[in-house]
Amino acid sequence: MCSSSRLYVSQKIKPTNMDKSSSMRSLFSDHSRYVKSFQLFLDRSTEHQCMQEFINKELPDILSRIGNGNSSINVLGIGSGSGEVDLQMLRKVEEKHPEVHINNDIVEPSAEHVMLYKELVSRTPDLQKMSFKWNKMTSSEYEKQMKEENEKKKWDFIHMIQVLYYVESIEETIKFCHQHLEKNGKIVIILVSGNSGWASLWKKYGSRLPLNDICNYITSRDVKEAVDRMGLKCQHYDLPSIMDITECFIDGNEEGELLVDFLTETLHFSKTAPPSFKSELMEYLKQPECSTRRDDKIVFNNTLGAIVVEPLF
Ligand SMILES: C[S@@+](CC[C@H](N)C(=O)[O-])C[C@H]1O[C@@H](n2cnc3c(N)ncnc32)[C@H](O)[C@@H]1O
Repeated sequence: MCSSSRLYVSQKIKPTNMDKSSSMRSLFSDHSRYVKSFQLFLDRSTEHQCMQEFINKELPDILSRIGNGNSSINVLGIGSGSGEVDLQMLRKVEEKHPEVHINNDIVEPSAEHVMLYKELVSRTPDLQKMSFKWNKMTSSEYEKQMKEENEKKKWDFIHMIQVLYYVESIEETIKFCHQHLEKNGKIVIILVSGNSGWASLWKKYGSRLPLNDICNYITSRDVKEAVDRMGLKCQHYDLPSIMDITECFIDGNEEGELLVDFLTETLHFSKTAPPSFKSELMEYLKQPECSTRRDDKIVFNNTLGAIVVEPLF
């Protein structure tokens, strides 16, 4: 996961200080290790639990007025992954609007995630009032396709959960979503918070890590600033979350190494980072800017931020 879009050239942390002789490579260059490390991150963190709390406590109110009284509600999920978070949110739409049919358009470039999402839908009971259409492509490919087809479709609820790091331009993506938002519609964006350990780690070491073209260091603070600059209305929510990184400090621990790969977005960081850089970064991970100690555990600050954008009219 990552901070600041290509549009914010001044803020973007470029990997200019990276040691040219370093053999560090982006974690994204090995998709299966990325997926493994992401699953482990979900296991060791309260990432989905804190989203669930937001979905249970805040989302019902946010969604209460969408739909304009029509017989169907249109939902667009961008970067939906394997769909677990989507289905939780869709249940809230259903609870608030029990009479309507829910049409879901999903934009997800990973074939593996699309397959997992389809499997999840096929084994989940009581989805008769929902339909799903998967588009295996990136958000910019989807935007392009809609423009080429002169498609004017609008959605009542658009969500982008932990995905804006990977889009070509966050402003263009938000603009596209806002143009296609129904009256009373809502856009929900979740990213790591500007107060999280991620933000500190990226600020201090982002320039020395092998960030690749498909991932930017963006926090919910950057998105809030972009939304404000665009003159759009939005609300911000903090979603406290933690990640147990204790294993990262056990020498040779395979799962600890996978988590460090996820934290640094570097393939086999422990084996490929220059030793002095590795020990400096590992030490920083324990510092209060990133983590706290709870009993015998080292707990990384994984706080997320949710931003809810509304139509202007
Ligand atoms: C960190 S995962 C989040 C998945 C899910 N929303 C969740 O919270 O569990 C990011 C997802 O965004 C997808 N993605 C990456 N680049 C994208 C792009 N340019 N447009 C749309 N989705 C993208 C990835 O394939 C992945 O499924």
